[in-house]
Amino acid sequence: MADEPRYVEHAFDGDVHILRIANAPVNTLRTEVRAGLLQGLQAAAKQGARAIVLIGTGRGFSAGAEMTEFGKPRKPPSLNEVFDAIENSRAPVVAAIHGNALGGGLELALACHARVAAPGAQLGLPEVKRGFVPGAGGTQRLPRLIGLEALRLIVSGDPVGPEEALKLGFIDAVLPGDLERAAVAWARQHAGDKFTLARHRTDKIAGYDAAAFDEAAKKLTARSRGQESPKGCVTAVRAAFTMPFDEGLNVEREQFQTLVAGEQSQALRHIFFGEREAVRIPDLPADAKPLPVNKLVVIGGGTMGGGIAMSAANFGLPVTIVETSEEALQKGLKRCEANWERTVKSGRLSQAEYEKRRANLTGTTDFDKAVGEADLVIEAVFENMEVKKEVFARLDKAARPGVVLASNTSTLSIDEIASATRRPELVIGMHFFSPANVMRLLENVKGAKTSPVAIATATEVGKRIGKLPVLVGNCDGFVGNRMTGKRGPQIEKLLLEGCLPQDIDRVMESYGMAMGPLATGDLAGLDIGAAVRKARGTVAPVADAVVAAGRLGQKTGKGYYDYDENRKRMPSKEVEQIILDLAEKMQVRRRKIEDQEILERVLLPMVNEGARILEEGIAYRPIDIDVIFINGFGWPAFRGGPMFFADRLGLKAVRDKLAHYAEATGDANLKPAALIEKLAAEGGSFATLKSAPKAA
Ligand code: NAI
Repeated sequence: MADEPRYVEHAFDGDVHILRIANAPVNTLRTEVRAGLLQGLQAAAKQGARAIVLIGTGRGFSAGAEMTEFGKPRKPPSLNEVFDAIENSRAPVVAAIHGNALGGGLELALACHARVAAPGAQLGLPEVKRGFVPGAGGTQRLPRLIGLEALRLIVSGDPVGPEEALKLGFIDAVLPGDLERAAVAWARQHAGDKFTLARHRTDKIAGYDAAAFDEAAKKLTARSRGQESPKGCVTAVRAAFTMPFDEGLNVEREQFQTLVAGEQSQALRHIFFGEREAVRIPDLPADAKPLPVNKLVVIGGGTMGGGIAMSAANFGLPVTIVETSEEALQKGLKRCEANWERTVKSGRLSQAEYEKRRANLTGTTDFDKAVGEADLVIEAVFENMEVKKEVFARLDKAARPGVVLASNTSTLSIDEIASATRRPELVIGMHFFSPANVMRLLENVKGAKTSPVAIATATEVGKRIGKLPVLVGNCDGFVGNRMTGKRGPQIEKLLLEGCLPQDIDRVMESYGMAMGPLATGDLAGLDIGAAVRKARGTVAPVADAVVAAGRLGQKTGKGYYDYDENRKRMPSKEVEQIILDLAEKMQVRRRKIEDQEILERVLLPMVNEGARILEEGIAYRPIDIDVIFINGFGWPAFRGGPMFFADRLGLKAVRDKLAHYAEATGDANLKPAALIEKLAAEGGSFATLKSAPKAA
């Protein structure tokens, strides 16, 4: 008979029993693990264990609940049954934590009599980030161990290291060296101690101060806009301070069950799994190994080049900026330094770490020499095809054979850029987003001739410098900008038909966007869009009139909004008049437009374009599109992205609404895409469409 996989190993060191969680890669607490723990605890009790050490094998202690089991009937035993067995154990149970103890993993540790951790461990309750609350007593036990500080940990979801956990008081010791051995020794030494279980502690929750609690809660949830889970965390943690343990557990369970079934949590889990999926490229041959990159060269030290170079330096990849003049070079390097120095001043970066990062960054005006030493080149010069082609022809001559040449272009054709070289198979787009040292999204753009090796290299380097690389096909605007570009005509129409800029931005920001589309235009500069329209021979009456009035956005102190000296935006009387005059001139009767209509008319054109992008194979999977919007376009993760939005609305409704708005607004672009027609007719959804109809 083949051996069943063992999810919990039971070992002994004299009379100290060791239960090792063995569910690679991250020891999630799947049914078999819960059952194995329960059995192990019962066996240890029977065999008269003096102490029990609970430890993880492999990378860490436990990353928590098995999220793929969510939404299915829960098989016994529950985590709480395991915790009961721990808390009823006569022998103290000591959690020994290395790597991650997150979510249910940390809750398991909190139920133990004591906790020890290895240096470098990460302890946290990130449930809030998946849209729910800790559901196995974390909101009740942690406050009993550390008081009001628990609220911060649970509402932020951010993990802490063992030193901070020790200081806060929810672990008992930090043990360097071999953790299992050290933990066994610690357990043996302390086996006779009197431990008070977290559920029985009262010292940290005594003297509950409602006003102080509210004040802390308000601060912690101030930035979460329309997100529900932070509020659920506050409710559950409050119960720890105001109710007996078991009643508190009930409050927690109620919050957990409501939130986990809700749309926001589904959206957050969709993105959590999606981000892991999007970086995997389906049709990449197994032998397409990334080329080793130990030296990056960035051509152009402007806004984007500087940010890209900082990302590399931040993650320990030596990088050289190449500029055309000493002056431009110094300006570029200074801007990076100033950026780092601001972070040091704010306390988020140590001086030593800054110096380490700065040492990874060099600059030169000697193009040929620098490029000759490069393992990868990323070009970020002016957005002009002639300039790009000239630069790539030079790069091709100066770079060693086999070196990948990437362009950060946001609009130009990778194929045409590649045609300036004799190595088009090694040319690829690496489209970073501004500010490039901050934004996580990286659209890697595959040209017609781009090879798997170039793709693998761009993906690997992207990950290495802290980015989330998503591979897309070559087209105007790639995925993100192509889709956001499609909002423009409907926004123009909304403005003429009855909205003001602040109405549209208010609706989009209360939906959860970091910034509404018109305010975003002001930030980027309205002249950019005007130049594109001029080149394409298109018009946008309102936008054109705003630009004609000298309102180019924040940089001129006015755009769709007026700005004060602190760049605070205020509704503009002048813009209102421009819009009213235009509506009258164009004989558009203005009416009151409901928020839902605004939302749909801004989002549905993007959804429709997303469907076309899938039809064309520009994106591999719907999830890739959602991940792009969450990580590069200020779209809130708890909304799940545009394709998730469409699925929630139902593709039949999406089809009908698109057809309605196409007709009502005379916008042919809103005619439902063929893929939407097809899925709507089949009763399908984007979620059921595992990959695009054609490969990208
Ligand atoms: P920028 O004007 O700030 O910087 C361009 C820099 O390239 C200048 O410092 C210039 O001196 C240098 N340069 C020009 N020709 C050069 C050459 N032959 N050799 C070396 N250096 C040269 O422009 P920005 O905003 O950084 O844009 C660069 C590229 O990034 C463009 O292709 C743009 O489309 C793309 N991009 C821009 C984004 C943005 O938000 N600004 C976002 C994503 C991509």
